[in-house]
Amino acid sequence: SLPSQVKIVEVSPRDGLQNEKQFVDTAIKIELIDRLSATGFQNVEAVSFVSPKWVPQMADGTQVMAGIKRRPGTIYSALVPNMRGFEGAIAAKVDEVVIFGAASEAFSQKNINCSIAESIARFEPVAQAARDAGLRLRGSISCALACPYQGETPVAAVVDVARRMLALGCDEIDVADTIGTGTALRVGQVMRAVTEVVDPARVSGHFHDTYGQALANILAALEAGISIFHSSVAGLGGCPYAKGATGNVATEDVLYMLRGLDIDTGIDLDAVADIGHWISDQIGRKSSSRAGTALAAR
Ligand code: HMG
Ligand code: MG
Repeated sequence: SLPSQVKIVEVSPRDGLQNEKQFVDTAIKIELIDRLSATGFQNVEAVSFVSPKWVPQMADGTQVMAGIKRRPGTIYSALVPNMRGFEGAIAAKVDEVVIFGAASEAFSQKNINCSIAESIARFEPVAQAARDAGLRLRGSISCALACPYQGETPVAAVVDVARRMLALGCDEIDVADTIGTGTALRVGQVMRAVTEVVDPARVSGHFHDTYGQALANILAALEAGISIFHSSVAGLGGCPYAKGATGNVATEDVLYMLRGLDIDTGIDLDAVADIGHWISDQIGRKSSSRAGTALAAR
């Protein structure tokens, strides 16, 4: 049976905006995060502390975190690739740090400039420091379905990275379909395999919607016992190191589907749709959320 409740991690401020060529003003990022937390999201992926040469759009993480209104009960997360990033994250008082690796060697090299084994070694002090500071720790596994450079990812490779992230002390582990090529049958297989080694309550699905499969993949993951999903208002997003990868699944579409399944998220679809239109206007894009577009046309 499907879960009765789902936690949505709203990733638009980070995954949604990181690939925008035009720099998005810090004030807009702050307003986006504040609007999202005001609608009741329990977890907002707000910023990343990575090299500004690699991802210039995320260079203002410190200012963004300093400018937001903290909503009690919302967890504000930051991506952190190394100790340098951790120092930035702790100074900015984030609630959760996200270490991000990959199940594919080629993608690991392109995204974070090191092998999978080197990345785990780099994450060790970060994980230790996060635990010492009492912060939540999340581990993200890119290319859990396929890699833009290596093709389909063996399930065993995903399970192997999940095991290592669990050993680092991760509270939550993200299974990410970076390029959105995954389909429901394989998503079910990957999720069942990962949840043999990680408590299903700690596993999340992070689906990009490049091939229009994300909702089906979420349903397959729900059936495999997953109850945490990442999404982005208006379907914003894309990864700078995955050519052609489009946005995350749109939050509006996920909320619409979950409502139809009688699954509680605590989030109001109409309020989120408004945010989706607002941010799309701000950055001059058309919303790629089908539900958001339909709601606006009513
Ligand atoms: P590197 O070049 O191997 O590292 O990059 P380095 O230690 O040699 O440092 C190079 C330069 O970066 C130095 O500056 C450092 O000071 C600086 P320079 O001396 O050249 O002036 N630097 C930093 N600056 C700020 N903050 C830091 C930091 N670390 C080093 N934390 C590194 C390695 C990991 C730093 C680099 O590859 C990087 O920043 N990559 C960013 C990758 C990224 O953000 N990708 C997008 C997010 S992941 C994603 O979107 C996938 C996800 O959504 C799930 C999915 O969909 O798959 C999560
Ligand atoms: Mg992503």
